[in-house]
Amino acid sequence: MTVPPMIAIEGLSKTYDSGFTALKNVSLTIERGEIFALLGPNGAGKTTLISIVCGLARASTGRVTIGGHDIVSDYRAARSLVGLVPQELTTDAFETVFATTSFSRGLFGKPPNPAHIEKVLKDLSLWDKKDSRIMTLSGGMKRRVLIAKALSHEPEVLFLDEPTAGVDVELRHDMWRVVRTLADSGVTVILTTHYLEEAEEMADRIGVINRGELILVQEKTELMKRLGSKQLTIELGTPLAAVPDSLAAYGLVLAAEGSELVYTYEAEAAGNAIAALLGDVAAAGLTLKDLRTEESSLEDIFVSLVRGSP
Ligand SMILES: Nc1ncnc2c1ncn2[C@@H]1O[C@H](COP(=O)(O)OP(=O)(O)OP(=O)(O)O)[C@@H](O)[C@H]1O
Ligand SMILES: [Mg+2]
Repeated sequence: MTVPPMIAIEGLSKTYDSGFTALKNVSLTIERGEIFALLGPNGAGKTTLISIVCGLARASTGRVTIGGHDIVSDYRAARSLVGLVPQELTTDAFETVFATTSFSRGLFGKPPNPAHIEKVLKDLSLWDKKDSRIMTLSGGMKRRVLIAKALSHEPEVLFLDEPTAGVDVELRHDMWRVVRTLADSGVTVILTTHYLEEAEEMADRIGVINRGELILVQEKTELMKRLGSKQLTIELGTPLAAVPDSLAAYGLVLAAEGSELVYTYEAEAAGNAIAALLGDVAAAGLTLKDLRTEESSLEDIFVSLVRGSP
């Protein structure tokens, strides 16, 4: 017998009672041990998709299986495989970190396992807060508690809905480390994010959802190649009124009242073009004050994708 994919989504659509259609015929297969990042602008349908797969909302049409178990007809078996870190912070303010995490495990009918809870809390740097009440924690720590709860019952699939929205850089990197360790141990991870850097850092594959439609699913490395444009900004010693004719071929844009030249290029084909540009800038007699580069933001990528989609 062949092993079923960890998650199989077929022809999923969702129309809310309001009449609004948030998902349109979404199909997607996710293999065991994959890290899958779901990207999309606000309101695209990411949380709706996750809510349906996790059994919190009902699909209007379509079918989902988790580990081969249908999420409707075989709800308990499917749900027991899943850990969910919701987008909204919802925790019991008065409970302690340890109690709330243990309790979550119990909800899945698993026998108490203090050693597992201890490991999870230590992995998330929450152990020294185990006896603190949730309401006394910072926002970032509360988010870590949500992750601890989701891991309390040793799920095979972990859904993280915007896990690092509003957390600081250090914690974001901590979370990435935890997620990677989980994936290495065989846990399948599906995360949504608005941070391209996060998807780039974490994901094996990326899905882009827009207005309820899954418009693209691709290996991350492929996607980055296709969409990874960067910008080089050259700060000039003396402002210019216009881009010199000798630099016309680069398609430069003048910014900051003529004191900056902005060059947009494909991340893949960087080296030579930049060396040539800087040489020509010097030859044109311009003085450089500073240089900086920026990667295309997720916004830019959406704009180009959505514009490009039929
Ligand atoms: N309970 C509901 N009733 C009616 N419409 C809803 C409901 N929940 C979500 N929607 C609508 O469905 C669309 C998708 O919402 P969803 O929360 O899935 O988006 P999202 O991709 O998670 O966005 P964000 O990035 O802002 O979290 C939105 O237009 C939203 O207003
Ligand atoms: Mg959402």
